[in-house]
Amino acid sequence: MAEPLALWHADHVVFARLLDLFETQVAAFHAGEQPNYQLMTDIVDYLQQYGDRFHHPREEAAFQRLVARDPDMRLPVNRLLQEHRVIARAGAEMLERLGEIADDVMTERAAVETAAATYLVYYRHHLSTEEGSIMPRAKALLTSDDWAATREAVRDILDPLRGEDFDARYCEMRKYISLHPNRSHEA
Ligand SMILES: [Fe+2]
Ligand SMILES: [Fe+2]
Repeated sequence: MAEPLALWHADHVVFARLLDLFETQVAAFHAGEQPNYQLMTDIVDYLQQYGDRFHHPREEAAFQRLVARDPDMRLPVNRLLQEHRVIARAGAEMLERLGEIADDVMTERAAVETAAATYLVYYRHHLSTEEGSIMPRAKALLTSDDWAATREAVRDILDPLRGEDFDARYCEMRKYISLHPNRSHEA
């Protein structure tokens, strides 16, 4: 069985790389160059399809166990739960702006840049809080029963970037990243 924390971290590594890639396209947009809008859309769409639907709910199960083990974690955990909602909302907003661009609807440049900056700042801050403050506590406090319950809380995980679940729609994005070959959610 792979170490649950290693799998948790492996997701974050992929997310961070995707956010970096997203930012290169935002920089091109900012410079008045032609960004790869399809790539930008793929990234946010993937982070919704996999991150919001599977990664975050599984984390929330781990958070619940963590608060049960250490009530002092309630406040930081509540912030992270709120951030999951903000990230989902900011992602939807970003996709709306990108959809307007694709449909040739007049979109204010400032609205696109604000949506992108909000998304990047929130997401990166969130990943760094989880990596720096939450995961070390989870490593110290959660038992194998806690991890098993966390795994059971969200089953049938579908990662469109991985193996048999691979979704051709993310071809553009997949060209840019190489994933950890042993990454598996069921391990
Ligand atoms: Fe999270
Ligand atoms: Fe996370």
